[in-house]
Amino acid sequence: MSNRRWLFNLRTLPRVAFAAAACAASNAAVAQTGNAANGEVLYRTDVLIDGFPAACRDCHDAGALGRQFVNQGLDEAGITSRISAAINGNRGPGMGAYSSWTAQQRADLGAYVYLSATSAPPPPLAPAPPPPSAPTPAATPNPVLFGATQVGTTSPTVGVLFTNSSGATINFASPAITAVGGATSEFLAALPPSGTTMCGASLAPGTSCSFGAQFRPQASGARSATWIVSFTGGVAAATLTLDGMATASQAPAPAPPPASPSPSPSPAPAPSAANAPTSGGGGATGGLALAALAMLAALRRRSTGAA
Ligand code: HEC
Repeated sequence: MSNRRWLFNLRTLPRVAFAAAACAASNAAVAQTGNAANGEVLYRTDVLIDGFPAACRDCHDAGALGRQFVNQGLDEAGITSRISAAINGNRGPGMGAYSSWTAQQRADLGAYVYLSATSAPPPPLAPAPPPPSAPTPAATPNPVLFGATQVGTTSPTVGVLFTNSSGATINFASPAITAVGGATSEFLAALPPSGTTMCGASLAPGTSCSFGAQFRPQASGARSATWIVSFTGGVAAATLTLDGMATASQAPAPAPPPASPSPSPSPAPAPSAANAPTSGGGGATGGLALAALAMLAALRRRSTGAA
């Protein structure tokens, strides 16, 4: 009998002690201990804030929130009371939307945040790290398409627009444009169509600029080339595909004036300065620095007398 009583005391004593300790701790801060698994679900649960569904994790990643707290020496109860204070104080853009969440739900959130901050592996909901540098400006159109063009003639200029939608200024490399594959000598960099802003050395955030491309086929059929547009500062290069359809030189030669003794082949003599830049001559195309295009623009302005 007395033995049994002793056993009973041994069994219950630790629980009683634990309950007393928990009580003492909760008196200091917040009433209940939370359930981290429920807390994780709550952390991902949407509420409407200004009409938009948002969950805790959309604005806070669990790990960052928790690490900060733990570094400040907060335990689970402390974190729970900070969460409650943020809700009651309507922190951020509308955390008051959680005001109907019960003390138990807030405690569950506290338990989850505390657990994710103290568990060794990185937080389960941490977002992917941001990309290291500004993204490559978008080039449009890409592929650059040219309509049917007779062999030996030069197509109208097609403008290629670059848009920097990143928050940082992006600088073109020098050379900026390099022809790397395909019929490299049949596609030429040129001044952009009038009315568009020509690319300079750099492209400010939120702005666009263009350069031109022309097709001057030397053989009939589908022709294509690849250009690389390069940037400095670790911004990935853009690959441009240029596609054109070349028609045989003699086929569409209009027959009307019967006087001309030599049919067609007078090869268009170097048409305009704008057509000059890319091809160094022997097929392999040198890179084109934008400064070269800028010089051409100045030349063209001078020759046309335009301001
Ligand atoms: C719409 C975005 C948004 C949502 C959703 C949101 N918060 Fe916040 N929260 C904020 C902003 C902004 C602040 C103020 C930033 C600060 O205090 O550093 C804040 C502050 C806090 C703070 C106070 C930080 C401190 O140092 O005391 C806590 C804790 C917190 N939020 C937890 C939560 C929890 C838990 C949820 C989900 C129940 C949640 N938040 C949902 C945006 C949000």
